[in-house]
Amino acid sequence: MTIKDVQNEICRLKKEKDICILAHSYQAREIIEIADFTGDSYALSKMAATAPNKTVLMCGVRFMAETVKLLSPEKRVILSSPVAGCPMAEQLDIDLIRQLREMNPDYTVVAYINTTAELKTVCDVCVTSSSAVKIVRQLDSDKILFLPDCNLGDYVSKQVPEKEIKLVHGGCPVHAAIPRKDAVEAKQLHPDALLLVHPECQPAVCELADYVGSTSGIMDYAVKSDKKEFIIGTECSIAEHLQYMCPDKKFYPLSKALLCQNMKATTLVDVLNCCQGTGGEEIELDAETITQARKCIDAMIALGG
Ligand code: 13P
Ligand code: SF4
Repeated sequence: MTIKDVQNEICRLKKEKDICILAHSYQAREIIEIADFTGDSYALSKMAATAPNKTVLMCGVRFMAETVKLLSPEKRVILSSPVAGCPMAEQLDIDLIRQLREMNPDYTVVAYINTTAELKTVCDVCVTSSSAVKIVRQLDSDKILFLPDCNLGDYVSKQVPEKEIKLVHGGCPVHAAIPRKDAVEAKQLHPDALLLVHPECQPAVCELADYVGSTSGIMDYAVKSDKKEFIIGTECSIAEHLQYMCPDKKFYPLSKALLCQNMKATTLVDVLNCCQGTGGEEIELDAETITQARKCIDAMIALGG
C-alpha cells in the first residue's frame, strides 16, 4: 500500500463515517494533506465549534482535543494518538492555581490554551499565541496572572506595558530550549534571511527576530513577504510546509532541535486506524469540567473575534 492508497482510504472512510479531521500545522505533510482544516490552536478551536460532523478527529496534542470537546460536548472527539500530550499543558497543579488566586484576589487569571481542561476550570480566560496580546489588552482588569508559559507571558507584557503581568513558572520544553547563540549563528549563516519566531522562544531569541507570532502568523508572514529567505524559529515542520508552499523561497529551521515528539507522535496509519474505529482515544470530560472550563474558552472567543 502506498501513502496515496492510505490517504485515499482515509478520505473514503471519513466521508462514510461523517468524520471531520483537524490537523495542527505541526503535523506531518501527509496528514495535513488529508485534513479538512489545518491551522494554529486558535483557528482549530474556532473551527471545532462550527464543524457540522458527528465525529471530530484531532491530529495534534491532548489539550487541543479537549478544547474541541469543551466547545462541542455532543460530538465524539478522538485524539489521534493517546500518547500525544503537551508537557507544558500539565506543568501546573490545580491546587497551586487555586492558592495563587487566593493570594492575588484582584488579578485576572489568563491561561495559555496549552493547559489541561482541568486547569482551565480555575482560570478566567484563555489565550492562544495569536490572540494573547489582543485579549490581554482588552481585559477590564489591569492586573494579570499569566500561566503557564513565561516566555509568551514576557512577550505579552512587553506589548502591553500598561498592565501589570505576573508570570507563573512554566514553558515549552522544545521552544524554550533554543539558546540565543543558535539564533545569532543562524543569522550569520543566512545574512539575507528574516528571522521569524514563535513567542514560546526565550525573550533573548525573540529580541533578535524580525517577526514574532503564532504558527499561522509565521506562515502568513513568510508567504506574503517580498523577501526570499527565512529562518523559522518554531517546530521544524513549519519550515518544511512553507518550502512546499513557496518553492521560489528558501526556509531554514532555526534549529534541528525544534522537533516536538508529541506533535510527531501521530502517524498516517494512526489516522487510518482512528477512521476504522480501532485507534486513538475518545476524549471524555465530565459535565462540571465542561461547564467550568468552557467559560475560559468562550471568554477567549468573545474577546478574540
Ligand atoms: P500555536 O498556537 O501557534 O498553534 O502554537 C501551539 C503550540 O503548541 C506551539 O508550540
Ligand atoms: Fe507543547 Fe511545545 Fe510541543 Fe507545542 S511544541 S505542543 S507547546 S511541547
